[in-house]
Amino acid sequence: MEVTLHVRRSPGESQESYWQDYTTELPAHGTVLDGLLQVREEQDGTLGMRCSCRSAICGSCNMRIDGHARLACITKVADLSPDGAPITVEPAGNMPVIKDLVVDLDPFFAKVRQVQPFLQPDGPPPEREYEVDHNAMFQLNPVMACIMCGCCVSDCTVMDIDKTFIGPAALAKAFRFVADPRDGQKKARLEMLTQPTGIWDCTHCFECVQQCPKGVAPMERIMSLREEAMEAGVWRGGGARHSDEFARSVGHSGRLDEFRLMPISTGIFNIRGQMQLIPGAIRLVMRGKLPSPIHRSIPGVQGVRRLFKARKNKKKEGSAVLS
Ligand code: FES
Repeated sequence: MEVTLHVRRSPGESQESYWQDYTTELPAHGTVLDGLLQVREEQDGTLGMRCSCRSAICGSCNMRIDGHARLACITKVADLSPDGAPITVEPAGNMPVIKDLVVDLDPFFAKVRQVQPFLQPDGPPPEREYEVDHNAMFQLNPVMACIMCGCCVSDCTVMDIDKTFIGPAALAKAFRFVADPRDGQKKARLEMLTQPTGIWDCTHCFECVQQCPKGVAPMERIMSLREEAMEAGVWRGGGARHSDEFARSVGHSGRLDEFRLMPISTGIFNIRGQMQLIPGAIRLVMRGKLPSPIHRSIPGVQGVRRLFKARKNKKKEGSAVLS
């Protein structure tokens, strides 16, 4: 089949990028990476790209294809463009571009190093091997499948506007050690992760879950870290208060008590923060977006309460924390 690759080219740092079209022939099972390699070999040896394993193992061919982060080596051209429409190929997002489709991974790995991605046991190592409960390690399997390709970081909507956010890849890696029963620094790790730019900055947009080619689902790991932090008593910042009050309100009345939620999230003694809420609250009232200040339970709230109770009991049994 004939395929046109619409490639964003960047000659180098601080030089303007531009688009270039390449048309090539590929077999029906051909991938975007096959197309790019063919272009480089037959048409334009200056096209910069990274790849190695061609089997979704090394993670080096992460690029933005038709607007989303994907591994080029497993993205079939026929799936993306069955009608032969051009396929756009750009460098991965949220990383500085070195040349064409090659990005600088140093900031990415600096953030991974920030979470200290290695076991730090408490006390001397045992004489023989560590004995670890099978179930505890089983919970870590999805996150251990991470190949550090950076697809999650590329499409992270928070990093798009705040480069200081630790980001989904590093936070998923952090979860891997927080949840490892052999690690002895759980609380210290959680204290570090709950600082500004950490776990409470995720906006649950699900982009990282959607783009991860290995099913790591970083956002779900971040949610687990939040739960772990709250259970460990690490309640730094407004995120934990917001989450706790949100659950309390829904668990009690089946709906959010927004008049209570915002002040509690901001901190009731945080007068300055409370004042800053006022203009937004006025705009909401004027647009009819705020519910009645008289908070009432929804009909059939008993069902919601039963759900919350069941969840609480499950957590007590210790089976839901790392779900
Ligand atoms: S080339 Fe290794 S993951 Fe695509």
